[in-house]
Amino acid sequence: YYGPVINPVSLVSFDALPRCLLAVAPTGNIDWIVEDVEDSMVQETMAAHGYIDVDVVCLREGEFLMPGFCDTHTHAPQVPNMASGQQYELLDWLENITFPMESRFSDSDFARKTYPGVVRRIIDSGTTTCSYFGTIHLEATKILAEVVNEYGQRAFVGKCNMDQNSPAHYIEPSVEQSISATKALVSHIKQLPAHPHSPEPLVQPILTPRFAISCTSPLLKSLGDMAASDPNLRIQTHVSENPNEIKFTMSLFPQCVSYTSVYEDHRLLRANTILAHAVHLSEDEIDLIAERRAGLSHCPTSNFNLQSGVAPIGRYLDRGIKVGLGTDVAGGYSPSILNAVQNASIASKVIAMQDREAASPGKFSHKQLSVQSLLYLATMGGAEVCNLEKFVGSFKPQKSFDALVVSVRNDAGNPAIWWSESAPRNLAGMLEQFLFAGDNRNISRVYVQGRLIGGTAFLR
Ligand code: GUN
Ligand code: FE
Repeated sequence: YYGPVINPVSLVSFDALPRCLLAVAPTGNIDWIVEDVEDSMVQETMAAHGYIDVDVVCLREGEFLMPGFCDTHTHAPQVPNMASGQQYELLDWLENITFPMESRFSDSDFARKTYPGVVRRIIDSGTTTCSYFGTIHLEATKILAEVVNEYGQRAFVGKCNMDQNSPAHYIEPSVEQSISATKALVSHIKQLPAHPHSPEPLVQPILTPRFAISCTSPLLKSLGDMAASDPNLRIQTHVSENPNEIKFTMSLFPQCVSYTSVYEDHRLLRANTILAHAVHLSEDEIDLIAERRAGLSHCPTSNFNLQSGVAPIGRYLDRGIKVGLGTDVAGGYSPSILNAVQNASIASKVIAMQDREAASPGKFSHKQLSVQSLLYLATMGGAEVCNLEKFVGSFKPQKSFDALVVSVRNDAGNPAIWWSESAPRNLAGMLEQFLFAGDNRNISRVYVQGRLIGGTAFLR
């Protein structure tokens, strides 16, 4: 690939490389990167690396390459519900909107008809790594994992565990049944056809106790046992999203000192746990999460849409806690991480406006998130939350080529982006346009492990 490249470096910086030559080996791993190559030197630079007779993809004016997005939290079965039920807060929304839709996935034919379109949209939104909640249903969740694997997205797929406080039509009958279905899903995913070169399997299982409210203590304890026997097994759940949810949780688990400690006390809080939302954490909970090195999924669209609150992400970043972005469809109404980026920016600006006079003890608390920080959260931050930072999230030799070709050209057809050939923006300006006004039309190619799997230029 030859052309402009955006590469996240840290929460405060990214590289903008206007004439970059980036080589991808047949394995799909990045082989080498040379930063500043004149047009006339492309063939020579390739030859110097032993690349003779190798095709070069040259980006056009108005295009650039960047790492793919990581969606650290979404619900595949809720995609058909996007933009429904925004008048509700969390617990009423679950009862009236979400559980009725999820229960339809007891019908495997419905799952087979629905999930391909769901995964297709998420890939075309530029999400190269995705952590999915399925439903309580083993068969439907197997189908989801199969579709994701077939389409070539990098993902974690989990079956929800729910054995209490759920409607009769959408609840698991016992701890034993819930655990045996969970084990069956883990085995099923582990035997899916593997990508020959991906450093970890593209699709991996993830334990998914929905949230403390929907799990009895014996169920959480059995999941903690499963986790203890497989340290590499990821865990995902929700934490401290909504005030009434927190109150109800504490009434169900009076022996636990906080919402976060419900997971800690059941051995479900560790460095490969993804906690979604974390809107209303106490100081002690922040300490505990930092100590366990668990990751947070910031889901700002959902937090606004369900009136859950504004998560103080700057405070978490100042504590060194891993943070990624999540769409949380259909609490969030968009499958695109771009929308999460935009609302993460707004959320941070809301906090900054409220706290104008607040002393800022750290780099990020009380401040708006910069473009650098937003880019990092959408890519590397998410990779860290997924414990995949060695393999994805940025461009580096030996990392996987999980990437997007972005076009901010007028012929991409997005009326919110004004591209002028006579006065083109610099590369950082193009990135900002894409992050704040871009959508799927601006994503022409989506690659995972070097393979083209989506985007407007992908033939399907
Ligand atoms: N808490 C428990 N289940 C859910 C869900 O499906 N979405 C959100 N946003 N929060 C939850
Ligand atoms: Fe969620």
